Amino acid sequence: MKMKAAFYRSKGPAAEVLQRGELDLPQPAPGEVRVRIKVSAVNPSDTKNRAGHRGNLAMPFPLIIPHQDGSGVIEAVGDSVSERRIGERVWVYEATLGRALGTCAEYCCVPSSKAIPLPDAADFEAGACMGIPAMTAHRCVFADGSVRGQRVLVLGGAGAVGFYAVQMAKLGGAACVLASVSRPEQAQAAIRAGADHVINYRSQDLVASCREIFAEDNPIDRVIDVAFGANLSHSLALLRVRGVIATYASDA
Ligand SMILES: NC(=O)c1ccc[n+]([C@@H]2O[C@H](COP(=O)([O-])OP(=O)(O)OC[C@H]3O[C@@H](n4cnc5c(N)ncnc54)[C@H](OP(=O)(O)O)[C@@H]3O)[C@@H](O)[C@H]2O)c1
Repeated sequence: MKMKAAFYRSKGPAAEVLQRGELDLPQPAPGEVRVRIKVSAVNPSDTKNRAGHRGNLAMPFPLIIPHQDGSGVIEAVGDSVSERRIGERVWVYEATLGRALGTCAEYCCVPSSKAIPLPDAADFEAGACMGIPAMTAHRCVFADGSVRGQRVLVLGGAGAVGFYAVQMAKLGGAACVLASVSRPEQAQAAIRAGADHVINYRSQDLVASCREIFAEDNPIDRVIDVAFGANLSHSLALLRVRGVIATYASDA
């Protein structure tokens, strides 16, 4: 049997290397499930890998179907996976971590542990967005304990990771969640996610604004940062003694 998929055989710009076509239907190995993909989600790691980020043009596999994250319905299982999983709605993550065949296809096989039940109340789009962005945000918020009662500043609070970090910090009981943004639509998104205060980091003085809100020089317990190098001086200026920076990216 065949399936439709997008794939590449060499790295480079998307327009030059991405192809569409029919490939063999992947078979679930022992411990794996095969998911009929409903929504495929592209992650920065997908585009960076495909583009040959930092000059790495070597192909780890002869052919790669991109996309780490996605959602769909389990329609086949390998040995040692219960057949009761067949028909389950799931979200999947890291489909191409050390593997060749991601979710940008009609079907994708992943270890059963990476196919997480998707509640009926969540649609497939929401499920596909969970994956790496939400897991990154979860680590940034909770990796070293609870944020209950804390003041959390999410830099880039409307980005893929920041948007979840704002929600999780709020749900985790933070006393106050602040988000930095650069446009009105980002401000709306951060407020929708639960931010108590939104600061435009391009048009406002971030440090002065935070200090004014709390009438304190070092009011922040935890910074969650999308741009460690660019923001380090602000973070250091605002953090309390023993404050924490949880960062997931830096172009510095
Ligand atoms: N998405 C993931 O799952 C994930 C996981 C781990 C690491 N990362 C890495 O994290 C970085 C961002 O990825 P993303 O997916 O979150 O991108 P994204 O959805 O584009 O979000 C990035 C956000 O950061 C904001 N931003 C940029 N520079 C900033 C600065 N100096 N201070 C405050 N905000 C700033 C951007 O706003 P502007 O409009 O102002 O630029 C944008 O809203 C990439 O390097 C990516 O590889 C991503």
